Amino acid sequence: MPAELYRLARALSTPESTPEEQRPAHQKHPLARMLTIGVIASVIGVLICLQIDWFPTQGSAQADQIDTLYDVLLIASVPVFVLVMTVAIYCVFAFRAKPGDRGDGAHIHGNTKLEVVWVTIPFIIVSALAVYGWVVLDDIEAKKSGELVVNVTGEQFAWSFDYPEEKVGSNELVLPLDRPVHFKIHAKDVLHSFWVPAFRMKQDAVPGIETNTRVTPNREGTYEVVCAELCGIGHATMRQQVRVVPVSEWEAWVEDQRAGGDAPEEGEDPIAAGREIFISAGCNACHTLDDANATAAVGPDLNQLAAVAEDREGRTNAEEYVKESIVDPPAFVVEGYDGDTMPGNFGDQLTPEEIDTLVEYLLGLSQTESGK
Ligand code: CUA
Repeated sequence: MPAELYRLARALSTPESTPEEQRPAHQKHPLARMLTIGVIASVIGVLICLQIDWFPTQGSAQADQIDTLYDVLLIASVPVFVLVMTVAIYCVFAFRAKPGDRGDGAHIHGNTKLEVVWVTIPFIIVSALAVYGWVVLDDIEAKKSGELVVNVTGEQFAWSFDYPEEKVGSNELVLPLDRPVHFKIHAKDVLHSFWVPAFRMKQDAVPGIETNTRVTPNREGTYEVVCAELCGIGHATMRQQVRVVPVSEWEAWVEDQRAGGDAPEEGEDPIAAGREIFISAGCNACHTLDDANATAAVGPDLNQLAAVAEDREGRTNAEEYVKESIVDPPAFVVEGYDGDTMPGNFGDQLTPEEIDTLVEYLLGLSQTESGK
């Protein structure tokens, strides 16, 4: 390609005279033609990109700035992509070897003017974007007054949340509307990444250190909490939910957690209460259970739990067995599974009442189902 590049370089640097190319007067200069094609293609590309709905709901005060930043990056990068492709494709057609031309290309030694231009412009663009990105990050992660501190812990394959000031722990993330939240993020085993797409925040969870991020949820709703770092066999199922609720509802939830969590209240349907715990504790991330619409296959299928429990009754009764499996998973491992995959801290995360409700729910369900 040296000959073609040489001709392009000459064409670009000496717009007024291109001795090699005998161009008719009515024909445009290659540079002008390329620029025209590039500008039109860039405008089309930018318009298409801005039409695409890239983002989920904006669930936090930070979301708008992130989305704007992303749009600016698109506006800056689409023309760069288009320019490179236009030059490349144009050169392939305009400067291709004539049939029968087997000769060497001309030996050239760069084009200083061109090189200064193609180093300076990207340098300015990248520096400006870096400064802009830094300003936005600095702004959205700034410490705010009245922050709610939430300790987030990732482990294979569940998130748990701890509210140190409220002295409450839960497998479900519940946040009050419009109050700034400071997440302190930890990992127990391997790298995870704490990601709430609707909040536009993502932060790695790294064993041995604490990482931080801040967010102010400003839209009521239920959003996904995702693990965004490949962390093992159950990575894809390491998904839970965050509920953003009005402050009064959040305060009631905190009180409820202190008083024993999701244990069924007087008159509440024990099946519904059990299902709620099953989902909020994240059991559905790893197990299959029809009643809770859970289809994951990291751990044993729980539809058949009563039958499996019966086989275990030589050592202990069904309730004891199921309870033991929740608080101490490696105590008995179902064939084909690994006892270390399930987090061993459900005994701390759930209250005794919640565990009882869950055991009753799981056994009750599969007994009803096998009795059908
Ligand atoms: Cu935890 Cu992926």
